[in-house]
Amino acid sequence: MDVKALVSQMTLEEKAGLLSGSDFWHTKAVERLGIPAVMVSDGPHGLRKQDEKADHLGVNESIKAVCFPAACATTSSFDPELVMAMGEAIGESCQHEKLAVVLGPAVNIKRSPLCGRNFEYCSEDPYLAGKMAAGYIQGVQSRNVGVSMKHFALNNQEHRRMSSSSDCDERTMREIYLTPFEMAVKEAKPWTLMCSYNRINGVFASENPWLLTEVLRKEWGFDGYVMSDWGAVSNRPAGVAAGLDLEMPASGGANDEKIVAAVKAGTLDEKDVDLCCERILEITYRYLENAKPETPWDQEADHELAADIEGECAVLLKNDGGLLPLRKDAKVAFIGEFAKKPRFQGGGSSHINSFKVTSALEAAEEAGLNVTFAEGYSVEKDCATEAQIAEAVAAAKAADAAVLFVGLPDVYESEGYDRTHMKMPESQDRLISAVAAANPKTVVVLHNGSPVEMPWIDQVPAVLEAYLGGQAVGLAEVRILFGDVNPSGHLAETFPKRLQDNPSYLWFGGEAKCTEYREGIFVGYRYYDKKEMEVLFPFGHGLSYTTFAFSDLQVSAKEIADTDTLIVKATVTNTGSRAGKAVAQLYVGDVKSDKIRPVRELKGFRKVALEPGESKTVSFVLDKRSFAYWNEEIHDWHVESGEFTIEVGGSSRDLPLKETVTVRSTAELPRHYDENSVFMDLAADPRAMAVLKPLLDGMKAMLGGGDGEKSEAAAEAVTDDMSAAMMNYMPLRGLVSFGGGKALADQLKGLIAMLNQK
Ligand code: BGC
Repeated sequence: MDVKALVSQMTLEEKAGLLSGSDFWHTKAVERLGIPAVMVSDGPHGLRKQDEKADHLGVNESIKAVCFPAACATTSSFDPELVMAMGEAIGESCQHEKLAVVLGPAVNIKRSPLCGRNFEYCSEDPYLAGKMAAGYIQGVQSRNVGVSMKHFALNNQEHRRMSSSSDCDERTMREIYLTPFEMAVKEAKPWTLMCSYNRINGVFASENPWLLTEVLRKEWGFDGYVMSDWGAVSNRPAGVAAGLDLEMPASGGANDEKIVAAVKAGTLDEKDVDLCCERILEITYRYLENAKPETPWDQEADHELAADIEGECAVLLKNDGGLLPLRKDAKVAFIGEFAKKPRFQGGGSSHINSFKVTSALEAAEEAGLNVTFAEGYSVEKDCATEAQIAEAVAAAKAADAAVLFVGLPDVYESEGYDRTHMKMPESQDRLISAVAAANPKTVVVLHNGSPVEMPWIDQVPAVLEAYLGGQAVGLAEVRILFGDVNPSGHLAETFPKRLQDNPSYLWFGGEAKCTEYREGIFVGYRYYDKKEMEVLFPFGHGLSYTTFAFSDLQVSAKEIADTDTLIVKATVTNTGSRAGKAVAQLYVGDVKSDKIRPVRELKGFRKVALEPGESKTVSFVLDKRSFAYWNEEIHDWHVESGEFTIEVGGSSRDLPLKETVTVRSTAELPRHYDENSVFMDLAADPRAMAVLKPLLDGMKAMLGGGDGEKSEAAAEAVTDDMSAAMMNYMPLRGLVSFGGGKALADQLKGLIAMLNQK
């Protein structure tokens, strides 16, 4: 479709109209020109297509659909191909349901465990989030359906989400919060993006030209359209000028009128309006011209797929003495309401009306396993009565092993508000301790979207983090618990010992108007590692029923320029007796840097399936970005020349392989000297030292007392090392006070001009 030609035939009113929805879920049609409306739907881990009453909070019913595991789980798979398969299935269901765009993936960084929507978000690590988002997008869009990657950007809390300003320095934005969006835009070309509700450094994302045009389009090359989050528009004409193409949902024509008025008043360029229309129509016709409503949607097959996916996502956090897997002939007590009625998804706009749900109890019974059940606690009442605990203890005592299905009730975490603490219900903590005391073979299975404190961790030998595992979670759990599936999930976030340890603890939530990102780039493991802090479970951690060894780390060169790529290879061996999947993780660290940087950062990962005894080589390609930080002065990525560590292993705290490489920067940073420039900076610059040498030689002779010899007392009071160290911090102007006098003061300007000469 020649959309430019189409737009040129539209009146200003028609064009302004096209820039907002016709209702909650549809774009507007322009009947005169035969432009149809198309429908969008939440997402991201299944469809929330609302046929009748519409809302954006998951209140009203949507069609029966398939609920796949939420992103907290799928990201733990560390397998972009797996989420690609999920995306393909979702794309097909969109075709079947005539949906042009699915609203996801949601890739905001998990700044704090408290964010109410963490269950929908991917990770505390931007590289992992970016790779997983790209996989999902490629999957959905391979079926000619668009995604809307959200919420762009810095929407890392629910508290005051529609008005608060996320105040953050640019380096932190670039290195942490924008990176997942950037990676996915470049690698997977999402058809649309959804801007966030919040402001960024005071300017609403929905009218932020720096974000929506400078960075997103000009720097990253995004060529789709940007829609607003539902109700995120504040100043619509400003949004059009900034690059916000589509306002969602409908504004009843109010904002369309404002667009028309602004164009007529000459405060908004009609060309900006045209551009927004063209971008929307480009994507609309990309869908329409490839629409395949006859695509079948086999929900039963997707249910199986959801179970398979969750089997790859659940993280085995602890398994002392190899308690898991359980023997299939063992008598096992399943305890806890979540065994019967699992919590498998979060609340809000991502809430899916599952066509069926398989609980662990049902799955175990269907598999003919010898399982008993005790309720243990009540989710609705958020309590565990003495009778419930006594029944659970009796069931545990009468069984070979007890499995507790526990976690966070819906009301504890949801879109729309943040958690206020990181604890599980007190009743469940009590139940776990009581059951663990009754049967030493106690397993805890967690259903939650974000980390919890585990006061009972030393009392139980095994913990399986199922996260919010989708409607088939019970199937996957039983397969893992009884050994049909070997767990291979790894944590995409750190579990701190307590909330207070989290780097954003002092600032998260913020004050009335803003939330300051004062912890900067030190998010998640970047902080815990720098502080050498003990954590409950580190980023990247995940056990298996087999064991893996990492060996033979090879780098393609010991020294490279920052324009080169480096190939890193390592061998992973299955040293146990079961087939399993390892996740090889590669972290890069700058050994010595003028910039304050994390100890290590994830720059590559590979999931590999290995038979017992089998070895495979994994390889990674590192480029400039793997070593760079965001330099605010040159407004670009920069590598500081020097040594970098390359570590490979099975988690951020288990990295047996280490190499060092030297990376040479091909870019020279501009140097600006003035009278306050200090000697240690000048000394690091050979050109500056050449300029200063005659002056310094003269002063040295003078300070040495003429004959160059110090008295014994003077030498004792200030050693040569000490004076050298003090000299490090001496500003140029100091030379005037400490010896140079007026003669030097007169020369200083000229000297500084020479230092700054290119
Ligand atoms: C959420 C979005 C969602 C939209 C539509 C908003 O409240 O923030 O993630 O896609 O509603 O339901």
